[in-house]
Formats: sequence, structure tokens, C-alpha cells
Amino acid sequence: MSVRDTWNPAQYERFRAEREQPFHDLVALITKRQAGSVVDLGCGTGLLTAELHRELQAADTLGIDSSDAMLERARSLERDGLRFARGNISDWQPEALFDVVFSNAALQWVGDHRALFARLTAMLAPRGELAVQVPANFDHVSHTLAADIAGEEPFATAIDGYIRVFSVLPPEDYATLLFDLGFVAQTVRLQVYGHVLESPDAVVEWVRGTLLTDYESRMPQPLYEEFVARYRARLNAALGDQRPYFYPFKRILLWGRRPD
Ligand SMILES: C[S@@+](CC[C@H](N)C(=O)[O-])C[C@H]1O[C@@H](n2cnc3c(N)ncnc32)[C@H](O)[C@@H]1O
Repeated sequence: MSVRDTWNPAQYERFRAEREQPFHDLVALITKRQAGSVVDLGCGTGLLTAELHRELQAADTLGIDSSDAMLERARSLERDGLRFARGNISDWQPEALFDVVFSNAALQWVGDHRALFARLTAMLAPRGELAVQVPANFDHVSHTLAADIAGEEPFATAIDGYIRVFSVLPPEDYATLLFDLGFVAQTVRLQVYGHVLESPDAVVEWVRGTLLTDYESRMPQPLYEEFVARYRARLNAALGDQRPYFYPFKRILLWGRRPD
């Protein structure tokens, strides 16, 4: 099955304000300022990478992403000390160690978090800090419905029975993992971000910028339009006519520091 790059910077940034709060909360967990080198894994359009670079007063910040569409936007922000490069987090290997390894809303797309976090830990210099935010909203109807519809015809046949499974662990497992990996200080928390949206229909636009891109990348465009139409009808039926619609969104924020 061929997989297209369906990340769309304009669609993703429609909910920029709502998506930025967890980023700021994550940056606030980092104690290091005047950091030497920083990497932002799954940097997307790079807007928040540039903000991270400023906030941490870093000498050198590198944004890594696998989507050409997102990177094209990011590259327009490049300047001294701020660079972007194409790479897949699953197998990307840096040439030198980092003072901060950062990732906001991206690692949920990468499998086997135990192995992944061991690799990220190995990228950190002594006293280096890891800061990660991942969504944990997979039990909300906005997410379960996408999986249900992917399992129905004609979609199931078109995508060979593919259903997105996210590898995000429970918060306490991340805390244990950080301990097992030798982090000497840590914070792990589950936070509910409440988003007041105009109506349940706005949730469709929200997930079209993230979760649904995964299904979009695996089917022809007309079939994907049918997928979205079925998703929209069923989501509206499930959530009813609530105006505004309060969208509770769970996220895990985690931070850890390496020993000297
Ligand atoms: C939800 S966006 C988050 C972007 C940015 N960190 C932010 O907070 O605005 C997720 C990003 O992760 C990237 N991504 C997903 N899987 C990836 C992988 N395996 N390697 C590199 N980037 C990946 C996508 O291309 C997308 O730009």
C-alpha cells in the first residue's frame, strides 16, 4: 500500500492557539536556559521550534520532521543557530549529543516507546533534559470513531484492514521508564486541556489536521472524502447539537534530567 505525505500546514494551524498551550506548559518544565544544543523531533511547521530556540536561548536548535510539506514551511524560518532537516524519528541518529531533546505532539506516531525512549536517552549529554508531550485522548469518540470507520467497507478493503494503533503508554509507565533509564529527576503528568469549539463539527476540522491524515495518506482522495463524510455524520450524531462544544483533550507531559 503506498502512503502519501498528507500533512497540511494550513489545516494543522487552524487550531494554533489551542495546540500551543501544551507546548508552553512543556517548555516551562525545562530548567536549562542558554542551552547549547537542542533537537525538536517532529518539529512540523517549525513555528514552535523557533519559539523553543528563543525560550531556551539555545546556541543551536535542530528541527527534524519526515514531512516535506511541513518542512517547506519550517525552512523559511531558518537563521543562524536554527536549522531544519528531514528525518524519521524511528531511525534518525544524530552526530553529537544534545543538551535538550524535545518533542511536542509527535512521538505518538512512532512505535515501541520503550525502545524509542532508550534511543532518545542515548542522545542526551550529561545533565541533559528530555521533554515530551503526547496526546492521550485515544478513548475519546473523536478517535475511536475513526478506527471504527476504518474497519468498515469500502475503506477496510482499500487500506488492507489497516487501523492506526498508537503506542502511547499510561503516565505511570513513563515515570517508571524514566527511572529505569537512569533519569535522576522527573515530572510526569496527565493534563486535560479543555477546548471550547463552536460545535462538534469543529472537531472534524481538528482531526482532519492530525489523526485523519493517517487514513488520508492510504486511500485515493475521493474515497477519503467519503470517509470524512461518514465520520462527520456519525460524530455529529454521537455528540449532538452542542454549541459551543467543550472538547476535553487529555495529554501527557513528561520531563526528565540525566545525571552528571
Ligand atoms: C501534530 S504535528 C506536531 C508538530 C509540532 N511539533 C507542533 O507542536 O506544532 C506532528 C508532526 O510529526 C511529524 N512526524 C510524524 N511521524 C514522524 C516520524 N516518524 N518522524 C519524523 N516526524 C514525524 C509529522 O510530519 C508532523 O509534522
